[in-house]
Amino acid sequence: MPTDDEQAALNDRTMESASFIHQFELGPWSNFIYFVGDTATRSCAVVDPAWHAPTILQEAERLDVTISHILCTHSHFDHINRVEELLQSIDVPVHMLGLEVNFSGFSCENLVQHAPGDTLPIGAHTELTFVHTPGHTPGSVCYRLPGSLVTGDTLFVNGCGRCDFVGGDPEVMYQTLQRLRGALPRETRLYPGHNYGATRTTSLGEQVRDNPYLQHATLEDFVAHRMQGKVPNTPLPAAPDWSP
Ligand SMILES: [Fe+2]
Repeated sequence: MPTDDEQAALNDRTMESASFIHQFELGPWSNFIYFVGDTATRSCAVVDPAWHAPTILQEAERLDVTISHILCTHSHFDHINRVEELLQSIDVPVHMLGLEVNFSGFSCENLVQHAPGDTLPIGAHTELTFVHTPGHTPGSVCYRLPGSLVTGDTLFVNGCGRCDFVGGDPEVMYQTLQRLRGALPRETRLYPGHNYGATRTTSLGEQVRDNPYLQHATLEDFVAHRMQGKVPNTPLPAAPDWSP
């Protein structure tokens, strides 16, 4: 298993190919924030900017990349609570699925609402696809690049997003996970929204083998496991005060 330093080096090495995905952890709940971008132009999208805007801007400066888009996998505050603050420094579009905007009432300057299957070019050689993955929330998306998927709170390393929060639906999550499993090559690299697993990224093949939420034979078994000890329609907890 790579150490954090080795993983960071690995992430930086991906800058040498046409597209890059740079992962870093921020906040009290082990959120992963991503820069997904185009190596040639060093233009990137920041995915799920939360918790501390100066750290995000400093990381972009350190890597010498320019943030040209803000992407939201979903509307939970631990993924979007620094969008407004970032917009005070960078004037870029903010992308979210229209279904998630309708569900959450999220609004901000420069908001662009998307439909499932939409694509978004980043720089000259990178294109993302909005893959609708409901279950954690109604309008959750994963962002797909060739060979990679940024999964938000849909799929974690050996876990999946909770379905008991308001807007969650375990039956829908089961269908979403089955669809991803059937649609993507096993070597697809998965980039989760939280650092909840033993590794910071994984492959779909590893998850099909190891993730307990991909082992259930029936919908009923999945729902029973996912909702064990949970109460449907639980409100999100209040955001804690946090600074690095
Ligand atoms: Fe979430």
